Amino acid sequence: MQRGINRPAAQCGDKTTRMLTEETAKHAEKRVYVKSYGCQMNVYDAERMTDILDKEGYRPTERVEDADLVILNTCHIREKAAEKVYSELGRIRELKAERLAAGLSTRVVVAGCVAQAEGKEILRRAPAVDVVVGPQSYQNLPALLARAEKSRVIDTEFPVDDKFDALPAPTQARIQSRGVSAFVTVQEGCDKFCTFCVVPYTRGAEVSRPVAAVLAEVERLAQSGVREVTLLGQNVNAYHGLDASGATVNLAGLIVAIASVPGIARIRYTTSHPLDMDPSLAEAHRTIPALMPYLHLPVQSGSDRILAAMNRNHTVADYLRALDHIRSLRPDTVFTSDFIVGFPGETDEDFAATLRLVETVVYASAYSFKYSPRPGTPAADLPDQVPESVKDERLQALQAVITRQQRAFQESQIGQIVDVLVEKPGRRPGQMAGKTPHLLATAFDAPADLIGQIVSVEITAALTNSLIGRLHQPVRKSA
Ligand code: 5AD
Ligand code: SF4
Repeated sequence: MQRGINRPAAQCGDKTTRMLTEETAKHAEKRVYVKSYGCQMNVYDAERMTDILDKEGYRPTERVEDADLVILNTCHIREKAAEKVYSELGRIRELKAERLAAGLSTRVVVAGCVAQAEGKEILRRAPAVDVVVGPQSYQNLPALLARAEKSRVIDTEFPVDDKFDALPAPTQARIQSRGVSAFVTVQEGCDKFCTFCVVPYTRGAEVSRPVAAVLAEVERLAQSGVREVTLLGQNVNAYHGLDASGATVNLAGLIVAIASVPGIARIRYTTSHPLDMDPSLAEAHRTIPALMPYLHLPVQSGSDRILAAMNRNHTVADYLRALDHIRSLRPDTVFTSDFIVGFPGETDEDFAATLRLVETVVYASAYSFKYSPRPGTPAADLPDQVPESVKDERLQALQAVITRQQRAFQESQIGQIVDVLVEKPGRRPGQMAGKTPHLLATAFDAPADLIGQIVSVEITAALTNSLIGRLHQPVRKSA
């Protein structure tokens, strides 16, 4: 039976209906709605929370109106991302009241980095919130929800125990419902302290998961049909996990180990820092065919002066050398990056240097952001904050160049025959969709039983955000 505010609400005076509604609410399967903001690690964390709650009898729903439990998994990286949470909480407060009028209770959880950074403020500003839980504590969700029956609770501790040890493995059905490409967090936190960034405060110090734990997770995914893993970390190429003998293994070593897991055909990693692009990782790009020829390596600015003020600890020349090195070892590698415009003190010359860097590298795509002062970070207190109008102009100019490069890259694919990992049905009937090694979404007519296989596709057209192709015969089956 459908539940939620779409169902006719019980009339206030109608006792029988109200009792029935309450009975239904008590015995029906519980539903959880999770909304994730921000980075891919939040997507991963949301999946882990769903796995924990699965054991508590909660099934996921896409409809917030139907949810007995609403979780907002938040992002604090820029002001806009954080503010979105408060407006969403306003809507959820109304929903909670409507459901209550229909005899249905709703628990509201704020998780993620806003929870970590502004826990008490959330409880003050958003009366609908029952639980605030930081990204290092969501393994405690069942206990926190139990405590929330009595009063509102907050947990933003950085526990000493590895939270991953406490997380249940997802069921095979759950893995399969998530598709053939999966995220795996291998490292969390950051010790770099870029002066603009909240991550070292919200996610804490760098921690790497042990090799055996990562491999066990990847093996489980592969056994359920996953073909591609994207290794996640705020600073993933600083990975330094322990192996069974207690020796430290870097990201290159981890990738080598994962490449030998049966079924895993593609490996990606994100997001990286130029300082941690060590020679062994570059070498892995040459020697491990499963490691995709795609590297997201944020540089933030093309001006050495601004890079120094950002505490990035490298120059533009260092960055270009790192890219050249990878290119020399794996010539088909494409690069993507993150940029910040309008960092305090950024002059027209500094910005021109960023544009020059973009023209020099030629990116497959890139993210660009206006600098957003974050409370508690050193750059927020710097003099010479750049006016919003200047940030707007620079962002537009930068995005114009990046968009041009992105289009050129997509159009360069037309006529090529590329390997596509088939992920899901496409938008149109008879179509399937997947990704190329360069992470370009591609749609083509094909039978549905190709999901999970890598097939050859001839690219025939480039749309704004995806490619169109046709199956190239014979279909290369890769099982
Ligand atoms: N303002 C704007 N962009 C930021 N980023 C991180 N902190 C800020 C900030 N305060 C961007 C960086 C980073 C990406 C994830 O978000 O470019 O690489
Ligand atoms: Fe933030 Fe990345 Fe810098 Fe760490 S390396 S402080 S996560 S921008």
